[in-house]
Amino acid sequence: MALYTVMMDTMTTYTGLSPAAFFTIAALMFVVYKTVCGMFVDPEHYDAKKPVAAASAANLPEPPAVSEPVQLGDVKEEELRAYDGSDPKKPLLMAIKGQIYDVSRSRMFYGPGGPYAMFAGRDASRALALMSFDPQDLTGNTEGLSESELEVLQDWELKFMEKYVKVGQLVPQ
Ligand code: HEM
Repeated sequence: MALYTVMMDTMTTYTGLSPAAFFTIAALMFVVYKTVCGMFVDPEHYDAKKPVAAASAANLPEPPAVSEPVQLGDVKEEELRAYDGSDPKKPLLMAIKGQIYDVSRSRMFYGPGGPYAMFAGRDASRALALMSFDPQDLTGNTEGLSESELEVLQDWELKFMEKYVKVGQLVPQ
């Protein structure tokens, strides 16, 4: 009993709190700690499919499946147009300097209604080099571009090479 009294007195001396207040605060801190920990998932136990399962269980529409990019090889410019996102079953493609990239993972940018939808199904080299939304610049023709405009285009190409899978190249009609 003496030990109990000493412990309680020490607690009050060091914390300035009564034992009741001390234990209440400690319990609250434990609850907050557990709640915050519950918001995170241990990387080893992370299951990427879980949110989809949760969406089905809650009767919510499932996010569209993004399939693995398919290699198309040589593609004519006219054929590339079919991959502008108007057919949701087809991948979303875009070309820079004749190289075709699968940009399906950025449907929010290039899909119908997206801010950069006009680039989909096209070689947008000139528009990107000039940072232009003019439909006339939606072409792979880079003739007459200045050194610095070609540099801008080069930066875009590097960004695309890093972010997207190359699935083919444009060939003359
Ligand atoms: C007011 C001017 C603009 C603003 C505020 C703006 C803003 C943005 C933002 C916030 C992103 C998303 C970046 C990311 O999350 O990776 C983006 C992406 C992009 N922007 Fe712009 N932008 C502007 C003008 C332009 C212009 C003029 C062009 C070309 C003609 C352009 C082409 C793009 C492209 C192609 C992407 C997507 C890149 C990707 O696939 O990751 N933007 N922009």
